[in-house]
Amino acid sequence: MTSVRSIFHLRPRRAGVAAKSKGKGGAAEACVEIVPMRRSHLKSVIAIERRIFPSPWSLGLYLSEITQPATRAYYVACVGPDVVGYAGMMVVVGEGHVTNIGVAPEWQRHGVARRLLLKLAAEARERSAQHLTLEVRVSNAGAQALYHEFGFVPAGIRKNYYSEVHEDAIVMWAHDIHTDAYRLRLEGIEARLRPLGPPHGAGQAPALPEL
Ligand SMILES: CC(C)(COP(=O)(O)OP(=O)(O)OC[C@H]1O[C@@H](n2cnc3c(N)ncnc32)[C@H](O)[C@@H]1OP(=O)(O)O)[C@@H](O)C(=O)NCCC(=O)NCCS
Repeated sequence: MTSVRSIFHLRPRRAGVAAKSKGKGGAAEACVEIVPMRRSHLKSVIAIERRIFPSPWSLGLYLSEITQPATRAYYVACVGPDVVGYAGMMVVVGEGHVTNIGVAPEWQRHGVARRLLLKLAAEARERSAQHLTLEVRVSNAGAQALYHEFGFVPAGIRKNYYSEVHEDAIVMWAHDIHTDAYRLRLEGIEARLRPLGPPHGAGQAPALPEL
């Protein structure tokens, strides 16, 4: 089992991606769409990548990944014209290996990664994968919580896997994703999805009392 991603890292949030605003106090109702990653998305993907990972993937690496559709599946999450997140997976011999997942800081904790993982898990099932696997930084508790929701359990440690930050990786697996039990898990996650809400730091004015 190999992983393309070598660093998973969280940084402070930053504002900047626009969203449609409406309603009292400027509450926004953003609509997220998960679509296959295309060449035209890569500039935005790389821009997010540079904000959230200390060793961002290059354009060439993404191009190489998205031009191998037989064994790869890459998606972006879009809010209107803006790419706000992305995720990818390699599927070989009955296993889906999640290689990358990232969400723009201002859109984190809105369920974007959850939606992306739902897509990857569904696609892995369609491609007859029986298991999903990934690596995650030992200190990345937020991502681990997300993966637990999808049935991933720790299977071991890869020492100094993220050598740039001298950190170990936890190897996680979600088994038997082809079963009805796992389908029900995905349906449950999907049923609990909430609307996206406004991005962090969208600049909306605080709600004023109606006079
Ligand atoms: C990890 C990451 C992809 C999560 O994306 P996200 O869109 O914010 O995740 P979601 O909003 O879908 O979160 C789903 C659940 O995961 C857990 N979770 C996600 N981020 C969390 C955090 N920072 N702290 C605690 N729990 C977190 C929560 O249980 C959350 O559900 P809740 O918000 O209803 O409590 C995002 O924080 C990111 O891009 N981080 C930088 C890159 C990275 O670490 N990638 C993962 C590498 S393994």
